[in-house]
Amino acid sequence: MRRGAIRYNRSVAREPMRYENILEVVGRTPLVKLHRVAANCAAEVYAKCDYLNPGGSVKDRIAITMVDEAERQGWLKPGGTIIEGTSGNTGMGLALVAAIRGYRAVFTMADKQSKEKVDALKALGAEVMVCPTAVPPEDPRSYHSVADRLVREIPKAYHPNQYENPANPEAHYRSTGPELWEDSEGRITHFVAGMGTGGTITGVGRYLKEKNPKVRIIGADPVGSILYDYFHNKTIPKAETYKVEGIGEDFLPGALDFSIIDDVRQVSDKESFQWTRRLARLEGIFAGGSAGTAIAAAVQVMPELRPKDFMVVLIPDTGMRYLSKVYSDEWMRDNRYLESPVAWTAEEILAASTGSAATRRELVKAGLSDSVAAALALMQAHDFSQLPVFDGARPAGAIYEDAILNLALAGQNLSNVTVQEVMAAPFPVVQRSATVEQITSLITRECPAVFVELGRDLYEVLTKYDLLHAVARMAGSRHG
Ligand SMILES: Cc1ncc(COP(=O)(O)O)c(C=O)c1O
Repeated sequence: MRRGAIRYNRSVAREPMRYENILEVVGRTPLVKLHRVAANCAAEVYAKCDYLNPGGSVKDRIAITMVDEAERQGWLKPGGTIIEGTSGNTGMGLALVAAIRGYRAVFTMADKQSKEKVDALKALGAEVMVCPTAVPPEDPRSYHSVADRLVREIPKAYHPNQYENPANPEAHYRSTGPELWEDSEGRITHFVAGMGTGGTITGVGRYLKEKNPKVRIIGADPVGSILYDYFHNKTIPKAETYKVEGIGEDFLPGALDFSIIDDVRQVSDKESFQWTRRLARLEGIFAGGSAGTAIAAAVQVMPELRPKDFMVVLIPDTGMRYLSKVYSDEWMRDNRYLESPVAWTAEEILAASTGSAATRRELVKAGLSDSVAAALALMQAHDFSQLPVFDGARPAGAIYEDAILNLALAGQNLSNVTVQEVMAAPFPVVQRSATVEQITSLITRECPAVFVELGRDLYEVLTKYDLLHAVARMAGSRHG
């Protein structure tokens, strides 16, 4: 059999997908719609998938722009060394640039960063120095101070210093911002991103506000970082440690321009990590913990959105570097970040099993005066063992295959018997906020499903199977 070429959507390209080197592949990352995470949101919500960059993060963009500028200015010359204090991702980008352009690369990192990040930098030929996290930036042992010292000691050294380098926000002003505008076809109304150096939010925000001053720029900040307090109260509290990597600061970076930010939302480590795992399981987007922070902030904003709104959440880096952290059940359990399935609500289970409101499954039901034969045909077509019966828009009963079988065995002609004559009591009705525990107590051998009341005369059936599916997902997230 002759096989035709497989055409995935992205390969229906505008131009041939052929490049001189890996740096040319940076950027032009896709917007992917979030159906389940935003199941109850009136607006469209998209993820800007910067974890798909070749170095696995948004930072590939600034690595190229900062090195380009340094070469142009003569700060970096052939045989030179690139030195940077980095949470790993900027290091990956710079290591890619160093590999292609023949520079030596030396990175200093805080010891809270994952081992995978250190190993990945070394794989690209870089040298890595791991420094303590629990010291202030001015301490000589901090990764900022060690980077500064190395710059003084190593000849022909260039320190991009992403925190203060104007080429950092500039990269986003020139690439990420225009991509967001073009790929949303000018419809973007809200942009949500975590803030580390602030380069992403500043550059993107500046570009989008030039295009449309009404676009709202929303920062996501981990509890423990000072940026949330500084934005809202102009105070700088004492920074506390937190576990999310790559975002939040204990000082004010020069690359961060608060004047273009409209709002900053605060997110705990636990919420960040839970949303990171949900993002992977519900949407197939396998990202690092800071993506969870941005998603959690977006979820805070979602109830405020209107149907015409168009929100984009930036997904900064790949989950591959966090297998031993957010994606490790042991690590999640040790840090008390795991969620209990008991906390899930009817609405969340429905979202997980049926997708967004737009793709919500059609309720399969019988009417009071339908024949039992017709009800049986429906049940067989959908492989259901029971059907809800409606009197107009209201639930009136339920019909079960056992009852139908008994009728048939008794020699009744199923076409001559109406559903009304054989139906049992309707499924119990629960509110959308009912917990798994409450629903489980209602679902029994005799009553295999409940109705979730979504609005006036609007019901969704939640079966024992849906519940098991949700619990298995949660058990899977704890055990393997
Ligand atoms: C994983 C991750 N997320 C988000 C960010 C924040 O991006 P920016 O520095 O542009 O604010 C960073 C920055 O280091 C990061 O490493």
